[in-house]
Amino acid sequence: MKFRTRAIHVGNAPDPQTGAVVQPIHPATTFVQLGAGEWGKFDYSRSGNPTRSAVQETLASLESGYGALAFASGMAATHCATMLLKSGEHIVGGQDIYGGSYRLFHKVCNTAGIEVTLADLQDLDSLAAALRPNTRMIWLESIGNPRLTVPDLPAIIKFAHDHSLLVAVDNTFASPVLLRPLELGADIVMHSATKSLGGHSDCLSGVLAVRDKELFDKLYFIQNATGAVLSPFDSFLLSRGLKTLELRVHEQCRTALRIASYLELHPMVNRVLYPGLPSHPDHARAAQLLSGGFGSIITFEAKCDFEATRRIVKSTKLFGLAVSLGAVESLIEQPATMSHASYDAAARAKAGITDSLIRLSVGLEAYEDLVADLDQALAMANAGVAPGYGEYGL
Ligand SMILES: Cc1ncc(COP(=O)(O)O)c(C=O)c1O
Repeated sequence: MKFRTRAIHVGNAPDPQTGAVVQPIHPATTFVQLGAGEWGKFDYSRSGNPTRSAVQETLASLESGYGALAFASGMAATHCATMLLKSGEHIVGGQDIYGGSYRLFHKVCNTAGIEVTLADLQDLDSLAAALRPNTRMIWLESIGNPRLTVPDLPAIIKFAHDHSLLVAVDNTFASPVLLRPLELGADIVMHSATKSLGGHSDCLSGVLAVRDKELFDKLYFIQNATGAVLSPFDSFLLSRGLKTLELRVHEQCRTALRIASYLELHPMVNRVLYPGLPSHPDHARAAQLLSGGFGSIITFEAKCDFEATRRIVKSTKLFGLAVSLGAVESLIEQPATMSHASYDAAARAKAGITDSLIRLSVGLEAYEDLVADLDQALAMANAGVAPGYGEYGL
C-alpha cells in the first residue's frame, strides 16, 4: 500500500465489536485479566493502551520501522532515547538543532553524567574530530533548525555504523512524507508529533520509531519505566492527523516554495534559507534526499535590527506569533528570542542565529493571503523610526 493509504488504514481496522471505522478512545487505566498471573494483551495503561497501540502501528508503518512508541511530547521521546546511554557515555549532536534538545543535552543529560558535544555535521571531519572513545550516539535533525541545513544522512549513517555508533534522527521538519531515515539505515527516528504529524496544533506528542526489535524492546522498557506515554485522547488526535499528513505536507511545501521565492526578491530581506531554493547551500542534497517537497519551514534574515525584527513578527495578522510549526495555521517567530532562546549567546552566534532571523511555518491558507500579510508586516520594520536613520530604518 502507498503511504497515504497506510496513513488511513494501518492501525485503523474497523472495530470488531461495533464496526466503527474510527478506533475507539480507551480511557481505561487498567484491564481485567483472565487469572492471577495470566496476562492478556493489555494490563495497565502506562504499559500498553489499545488507542495508543493503534496509532503506534500507523506510525511504525509510515516511518518504515519495526515498531514505534508514542510519548507525551517530543522532548519525552528524545529524553527516552538519551536514556539508552549510561553515565560516562557521550553523544555527538548536530549544531543546527531545536533549542529544547540543546537544553536537554546541556542542562539535563550533562548533570546525569552523559556528555554531549555539538559538531558541524555538514562536515564529516568535524564529526570525526568530535568523537571520543565513549561516544555512543549521533543525534541530528534531518532538516536542521533554524537554518534548514540538510545533512548528508547516508554518509553520516555509514560513518556512525563504521564506528559502531547509534544514529538517532529528529525527523520533525521533514516528516516521513519527505524522508524516512530508517530506510537509509538510521537506528532511531524521533518526532515532535506535535508538529506535522498531528498537524492541527491541538496535540502535544512525541514518537520514537526504530528499525530493529532489540532496540525497540530497550526503548519500550525505558518508556514503561519512566512513564511519559501519550494519553488515549491524544493518541486519537494524532491518529486523526496522520490520515491527512501526506496531503497537508505536499500542499504546505508547495506554498512554502512560492513564499520563499517571493521573499528572496523582497527589498526588506537580506537572505532566505529554504532548501527548495537553489540559493540554499544544501539545495542539491535536499533535492536528492527529500521526495515530494522541501518542507513547510522558511527562515529568512530581515534587513533590519533586533527591534525592527520584533516589530515585523508582531505585525502579521494571519501568521500567528508563536513557536511550533507544521500545522494548518501559519506561524511566525524570532528564533533568537523564542525557539532558540535556550541556546546561550555564543552558541547562537556559532549556529548563525542572528537577531534579525525570522522563521515561518507555512500552513494551509491561500498563498495570496499569506504574501499580503507578510508584505504589510515587512513594511512595519520602518514604522516609528526617525527619518534619516538609513535606507531601511536602521
Ligand atoms: C525539531 C524539534 N524537535 C523536538 C521538539 C520538541 O517537541 P515537543 O515540543 O513536542 O516536546 C521540537 C519542538 O518544537 C522541534 O521543533
